[in-house]
Amino acid sequence: MAIQWYPGHMHKAKKAIMERLKSVDMVIEVLDARLPASSANPLLAKLSADKPKLKILNKQDLADAQRTDLWLAEYQAQSQTQAIALDASDRQAAAKLIAACRALVPHRKGLDKPLRVLICGIPNVGKSTLINGMLGKKGAKTGNEPGITKAEQRLILADDFWLYDTPGMLWPKIIVEEAGYHLAASGAVGRNALDEETVALELLDYLRRHYLTLLQARYQADLSTSPHWRDDEWLDWIGRKRGALLTGGRIDYQKAAERVLTDFRDGQIGCITLETPNQWAVWLKAGQQREAVLKAEREARKAQRSGAPMTEQAPLSADAFIEAALLTRDEALDERALRALFEPPMSADKLIDVLAVLKSRWQGRGLLLVHTPEGWRFQVVPAAFSRLSRLNEQRAPRYSRAVMETLAIIAYQQPVTRADIEAIRGVAVSSHVMQILQDRNWIEVIGQRDTLGQPNLWATTPQFLSDLQLEDLCQLPPLTELGELVLPELTEPAAALPAAEEPSDDELGA
Ligand code: G4P
Repeated sequence: MAIQWYPGHMHKAKKAIMERLKSVDMVIEVLDARLPASSANPLLAKLSADKPKLKILNKQDLADAQRTDLWLAEYQAQSQTQAIALDASDRQAAAKLIAACRALVPHRKGLDKPLRVLICGIPNVGKSTLINGMLGKKGAKTGNEPGITKAEQRLILADDFWLYDTPGMLWPKIIVEEAGYHLAASGAVGRNALDEETVALELLDYLRRHYLTLLQARYQADLSTSPHWRDDEWLDWIGRKRGALLTGGRIDYQKAAERVLTDFRDGQIGCITLETPNQWAVWLKAGQQREAVLKAEREARKAQRSGAPMTEQAPLSADAFIEAALLTRDEALDERALRALFEPPMSADKLIDVLAVLKSRWQGRGLLLVHTPEGWRFQVVPAAFSRLSRLNEQRAPRYSRAVMETLAIIAYQQPVTRADIEAIRGVAVSSHVMQILQDRNWIEVIGQRDTLGQPNLWATTPQFLSDLQLEDLCQLPPLTELGELVLPELTEPAAALPAAEEPSDDELGA
């Protein structure tokens, strides 16, 4: 999921933190105990690498106590690091925090050598609540004074203990996919940046695997059948159970998703932690590998642009090189792109020979080299499809009903304007939904309608056909097979459609 979450003013926060780091003895990082690793700021880790650290797992009242212990042990094992768990109701918070800091930097004490501590945390981890609770009667916030920028505050918890509070700082790119979902589920990411239905489905997917009993109890689900429900079946059930319905009894998925997320945020489902140290290690590795591949691709493209011949970098046989290119690309490669991998470009005849070699090499294997309208690609043999769908059920990218309905309308009615889509669906189409489809490279603007305002005309892309393994739009499957869509609206007149079921961009403040 492409979460755009890095607002411009974060640059200012980063600068303030970098400046303050020069004159503090240690750093406190406030984390959300339900998502300790996802709520840790990698940018802060980098900037403050040489400072002793106290990790506070805050909101422990909402987290799974056993998992909190795992995380505390994980952090305690790190060098120069202490970790404690707290929550807003803890009256001893200040004492615990000061004791842990003093253990880390014992030599800074007394009025002439106060312990200077920087406290950081991403938005919504409960930093302000914690600080206000600790300040209580004892402490004091300082007003304007030299050396304290507008972006920070100095708080005096004890005469020789100074806490510098800076604004919540985010980092520019989330490389662990799961972290994006967890931050969104916890409420750390603003509403504009996410599709709540997708986030709720991801959350339900995790909960049904790791906290099934809590989920069953909260939503009074049938104990014998619900262990087999998929995430979308859970959302259906919750929508019905919690009265998130539209006229005609259809489920209001936006509302159902909001209910699940609110229940999670308020701790109504139970004490839950969305990650363990072991799970995080696996996700982080996958994220880093994805980043490394992207970086290598970027560098290869750069080298190609600057004219460096590929043969120098890859002393491989031509068929091995084309095989590698086809196996590592998500999209199909056309003949021109394949020939251009070589310097000088491979001849068309030679390419035909190489593709024939590859086709025969992959006979009887799990993958098949096929030609699609977009070019050549490897695809899973048909006999493996049904069994592989079990894996897809677990990790296939999820699209909300709003996304799928919009895609179906574009596919079957193209070319259409956004207003056409809204008239058919009877609800506003958010920019986020359109963006998801564009990011997937399934839809594109193919022109403008010659009416007032010249609105964009949307159509599906060749990539869409290729991903569905179709040669032509005429081969589109019946509507019900396209992502199990049920779209009675397509045949109904716009006037008979239900009221808006999702907020427009304006309502979202986009
Ligand atoms: P921030 O400064 O890190 O951005 O977070 P802030 O203190 O504003 O807290 C964010 C939300 O988390 C607040 O709820 C706050 O009440 C809640 N919160 C903070 N600490 C704890 C805790 O230890 N346990 C629990 N359960 N909740 C905590 P809100 O709904 O945004 O506001 P409000 O209900 O306080 O008005």
